[in-house]
Amino acid sequence: MRMVDLIEKKRDGKELTKEEIEFIIKGYTSEVIPDYQMSAFAMAVYFQNMTDDERAALTMAMVESGDQINLAEIEGIKVDKHSTGGVGDTTTLVLAPLVASVGVPVAKMSGRGLGHTGGTIDKLEAVKGFSVEISNQQFIDLVNKNKVAVVGQSGNLTPADKKLYALRDVTATVNSIPLIASSIMSKKIASGADAIVLDVKTGAGAFMKELKQAEELAKAMVDIGNNLGRNTIAIISDMSQPLGFAIGNALEVKEAIDTLKGQGPKDLLELCLSLGSQMVLLAGRTNTIEEARKLLEDAIASGKGLETLKTFLEAQGGDASVVDDIKKLPTAQYLIDVPAKESGYVSNIIADQIGVAAMLLGAGRATKKSMIDLAVGIELRKKVGDYVEAGEALVTLHSNQENVDDVTGRVYASYSITSEKVTVPTLIYKEIR
Ligand code: URA
Ligand code: CA
Repeated sequence: MRMVDLIEKKRDGKELTKEEIEFIIKGYTSEVIPDYQMSAFAMAVYFQNMTDDERAALTMAMVESGDQINLAEIEGIKVDKHSTGGVGDTTTLVLAPLVASVGVPVAKMSGRGLGHTGGTIDKLEAVKGFSVEISNQQFIDLVNKNKVAVVGQSGNLTPADKKLYALRDVTATVNSIPLIASSIMSKKIASGADAIVLDVKTGAGAFMKELKQAEELAKAMVDIGNNLGRNTIAIISDMSQPLGFAIGNALEVKEAIDTLKGQGPKDLLELCLSLGSQMVLLAGRTNTIEEARKLLEDAIASGKGLETLKTFLEAQGGDASVVDDIKKLPTAQYLIDVPAKESGYVSNIIADQIGVAAMLLGAGRATKKSMIDLAVGIELRKKVGDYVEAGEALVTLHSNQENVDDVTGRVYASYSITSEKVTVPTLIYKEIR
């Protein structure tokens, strides 16, 4: 086989075989195929798309390009949840203990990464002593014992995807449904998921700004999962405004605790119950989605979810007493309200603008080397649909710097206020299976 022939074949809109796709991915991973040929191939895919069979083959080839986590020693069906990413998305912190508390194993591999706030691991590290530096065996043992554990990404997972994603980033080929879908699904499958629940976000703070694109991506990922024998479903949820009230690491831990106490933001709770009941259903714990949802609602009402959070934090060295004494979380030096300049109804909060504001405070990393400040972030005091009086706080900044002019500017740029009543945006648009 010659790479140039395969580029030509894809360029002309023909379907590649599984063997041909394996040849490309193996060659690229082992540096036999150079970046310039792979760039041409990615561009050909961008314009010519891929069939379902090609997408499945590409995903598996990337899975097989590196290590695969074997979770066979964990009893039960391992369901993983993946979010395409948004602003202040606290769902994992709620879902992991909540779903585990009803007997479904949650073996979560997580990362740090770049963004508006830290990743799940950074957030959890706001709890004193908590560590994800556990061996694979400890990880498996903890999931069997407590039904939940979180481990940092280790080993050499999907190196082909890492290389290809970096290449796409500089060749204008990131925005291709078959390439995005196979990239995300390869990572989930390599980390050992038997079944996958996807939270595909749409709106200003999401990767897929338009509902139609989000649907297309969701459908592509669900098809790949199902074609590869992993039961997969997707929910399309709103990320036009941030989820919940908190954007920041310790702030989101507090928000997750509140939610498990039944005192969290309505939208965050609703999304957690929707995603969580799909996880419970895919794990075979119940036969219907209604029963699954009831189990989770009961686990919040009875405090079982909260208890599981304590067990989970303690098992990984964390000070679980924060759950009862929130003041033990890191706190910022300055609390600064940003007042509304006029009275009216909040009609829009541009999620990614608020995300950047949180990052400017130090809640997220701008580059891999940036330091994160776990204490800082933004607390939304008004959300879309709320009425605000002039002078009332739109948000409260939790800051360790006194001068927050640039942050305040971003907050004002993201909030719109109108005189007419505003309807609250739809939270969950669709379910795709
Ligand atoms: N996220 C991924 O992991 N891969 C993509 O290709 C795009 C977003
Ligand atoms: Ca939040």
